[in-house]
Amino acid sequence: MAKHKATATATKKSDVRPAPAVTAVEMGARQREISVSEFFTKNRHLLGFDNPRKALLTCVKEAVDNALDACEEAGILPDVTVQLEVVAVGSSPLLPASQATRFRVTVADNGPGIVRQQIPKIFAKLLYGSKFHRLRMSRGQQGIGISAAGMYGQLTTGKPVKIISRTGPKTSAHYFEVQIDTKKNEPLVHENKQIEWDQPRGTQVAIEVEGRYQKGRASVDEYLEQTSIANPHVRLTYRTPEGETKEYPRAYHELPPSPKEIKPHPYGIEFGMLLKMLQDAKSHTLSEFLASDFCRVTPALADEMCKAAKVSPKAKPRDIRGAIAETLYHTIQATKIMAPPTNCLSPIGEKAILSGLYRQIKGEFYTAVSRPPSVYRGNPFIIEAGLAFGKAPDSAAKPEKPSQPLAEGEEEEGDSELARVIRYANRVPLLYQQSSCATFKAVLATTWRNYGISQSRGALPAGPMVIFVHIASVWVPFTSESKEAIAEYDEIHKDITLALRECGRRLGLFLRRRERAASEFRRRNIFELYIEEVVEACNRLKGGKLSTEKLKAQLQKIASTKTGGIKTDETLGKTGAGPEGLPHSIIVTAEGVDGAVPSLPEGSHVIAPQTDVSGEIHKEVKKPSTKQGRKQPAKKAVGKQAKINPITVPSIATKGGSSQKQAGKVRKGSKVHLTGKKK
Ligand SMILES: Nc1ncnc2c1ncn2[C@@H]1O[C@H](COP(=O)(O)OP(=O)(O)O)[C@@H](O)[C@H]1O
Ligand SMILES: [Mg+2]
Repeated sequence: MAKHKATATATKKSDVRPAPAVTAVEMGARQREISVSEFFTKNRHLLGFDNPRKALLTCVKEAVDNALDACEEAGILPDVTVQLEVVAVGSSPLLPASQATRFRVTVADNGPGIVRQQIPKIFAKLLYGSKFHRLRMSRGQQGIGISAAGMYGQLTTGKPVKIISRTGPKTSAHYFEVQIDTKKNEPLVHENKQIEWDQPRGTQVAIEVEGRYQKGRASVDEYLEQTSIANPHVRLTYRTPEGETKEYPRAYHELPPSPKEIKPHPYGIEFGMLLKMLQDAKSHTLSEFLASDFCRVTPALADEMCKAAKVSPKAKPRDIRGAIAETLYHTIQATKIMAPPTNCLSPIGEKAILSGLYRQIKGEFYTAVSRPPSVYRGNPFIIEAGLAFGKAPDSAAKPEKPSQPLAEGEEEEGDSELARVIRYANRVPLLYQQSSCATFKAVLATTWRNYGISQSRGALPAGPMVIFVHIASVWVPFTSESKEAIAEYDEIHKDITLALRECGRRLGLFLRRRERAASEFRRRNIFELYIEEVVEACNRLKGGKLSTEKLKAQLQKIASTKTGGIKTDETLGKTGAGPEGLPHSIIVTAEGVDGAVPSLPEGSHVIAPQTDVSGEIHKEVKKPSTKQGRKQPAKKAVGKQAKINPITVPSIATKGGSSQKQAGKVRKGSKVHLTGKKK
C-alpha cells in the first residue's frame, strides 16, 4: 500500500516531463537502407568468418565447393588444386605457417570457366549466383559463397580478389581484379585484361585473407581429406602453407549421375509462397499454373483440386487472392499427391562410400548404407551412412608402447576413445556446430550397445570408429547461412537413425563372429598342442608301427571341425570367402581384405594421406614407386596365403605389380581357388 502511494505522488510531481531525447523527425532522418554487403560485413560470423582459423577454412571451402559444382554441372571430372601460401604483412618478415596471420588462398579447377561479363558480379556482389532460383542438388545454393570470401579478404587485407578464367582452348583467358563496393553491393573492377594461361579451360581464384593455419579438427586439411572421402571422383592436389604437396587421387573415373532440376512439390510450399507464385505465374489459367509450376500435379489433378477448392480452373492465377487463395492452399495440402521424383538427387552410393572410407581411414571393418529417398516439407532427400571400425591390423598387432600397469579405475587409452562422426551435406563436409546437427543427434540417440559397442548415456559410442553420415537433398535445411549444421526435421532424423542402425547391426554381426571365431581358434590351438603327444603315445603303444602322419591328420581334422571348422578360418580371415551376410562391407585382417573393395584408380600409385579412426594422419606418401594403391595389410602374406574374394581380385590386383591374385594362389600346399566362394 505504502509503495503505491509513493508512486502516485511521484507521478504528480513529474507532470512536466523532460523532453524526449530524440524526436520522430530526428529518428526519421537517421533511417536508411542497409545494403546486404554492409549487413554481412558486420555479421560475418553468419557466413562462417567468425575467427581467423575458421575464416581460412571458409574461403577454401567456398572456392572448392564452387569448383566441384561447376565441373559436375558441365560434365567434367574435377581436377582441383588448392594452394595456401603465407603472405608477409607490411615490411615484416615472412613467418612460419603456424604463426602467420595472412595467407593467399588459390583454388584452380578444370571446369567450364566463367563468361567474362559475369566475373565481376560473381566475385564481388553478394547474393548473385546461378543456383538459388532452382531446385537442384548442388553444394552452393545461396549465391553468397565466394563473394563473401572476397569481401572478407578485402575487409581484412584490403586486397582485391584475383581471377583467371577461360571457357575453352580456342578462347583466351581473362584476368580480373575485383573488389566490392559494400555500400551498393556492386563490383568495382580494378583490372581486366586478356592473358596467356597454360590451362585450356577452367577458373582460378586467389584471395588474400587474414587467417590462421592450424592442423587438426576443423582444419583446411581435415576438410580436404573428408571432401576426398565423399567425392572419390575428384582429383585433389593440396599445397600446404608448409610447402608440402598432398595428393588425393581419383578413385572413381565416372562422374556421379547429373541430378535433374525439379519443380517445387505442393507439400513443400508455404501459403505466402503460393501467393507469390500466383502473382508471378506465366500460365493463363489456374489449372495450367498448378500443373506446370509444381511437380507431380497432372492437369487432371489440377482440375480436381480447383473443383475441391470451389474455384474455376479457368480463373486467372493473378486473381486468386485472400480467402479463395487460402482455401486453395488448404485444399492442395489435403490432396493426396505423389511424392516428388528422386532423379533430382545424386547420392554418393554404397560402393563409393566404402571406397572413400577404405582409402582414407585405416580400420578392420567398413560398411555403407544408402537409404531409399524420403521427403521433408516437399523436398526429396536421401540419407547415407557408413562406418569404419577398428585399428588397422598391422598396427593392432604390435603394441606401440609396453603396456604399463593401470591404476584402479583407469582404462587403456584405446578403451576410452570415442567415435568420430563425419558429416556431409550434398557431399560437402560439415566441420562446425556438430552438436546442433541432426546427424550428430541421431548418432547419440542410437543405442550402440545393442551392437556390442559401449556407450555412456547421452554420449558418443566408445571405440575406434568413424561414423559417416551424408544427406543429399535439393534443399538442405541448414540451421544458418554458414551451412554448418542440419535442422532436425522428423523425417530426416528417422532416416538417419535407420541408416545408422543398419550399419550398427552389421558391425555387431562382425564383432560377434570375430569374437566367437577367436575363442574357437584358441581352443583349436590347445587341441593341437596335445595332438603331437597323443600320436606319440599311441605309436608307442602300437610298438612303433602306427602311421603317425595319418593319425595326426585325422586328429587335426577333428580339432578343426570341433572348433567351428572353416567358419572360424573365414571369420579370422584365413580363407578365401567373403563376408557372408554382410552386404556392402569390407573386412580387413592381417591376412588380407575380405569383401568387394571398390575399384581403385588407374594411376593408384599415388597414395593419399591416410588417417586412422581417431583422425591422426598416419602416412603421407607423395609419390611412392610401388604400384600398389593402398598398402595392403596382406603384404606380408604375399606368397604364403591371402584371402581373396573373387570380386576383389580384378579390381585391386590387376592394377598393382605384385598382385594379390598371385598371392592368393598358394597357401602352404593347400589350394585357394580364386573362383567361387567356399561355403
Ligand atoms: N569455379 C567456378 N566455375 C564456374 N562457375 C562458378 C565458379 N565459381 C562460382 N561460379 C558461379 O558463380 C555463382 C556464385 O557463386 P557463389 O557466390 O559461391 O554462390 P553459390 O555457389 O551459392 O551459387 C555460382 O552459382 C556459379 O554459377
Ligand atoms: Mg558457392
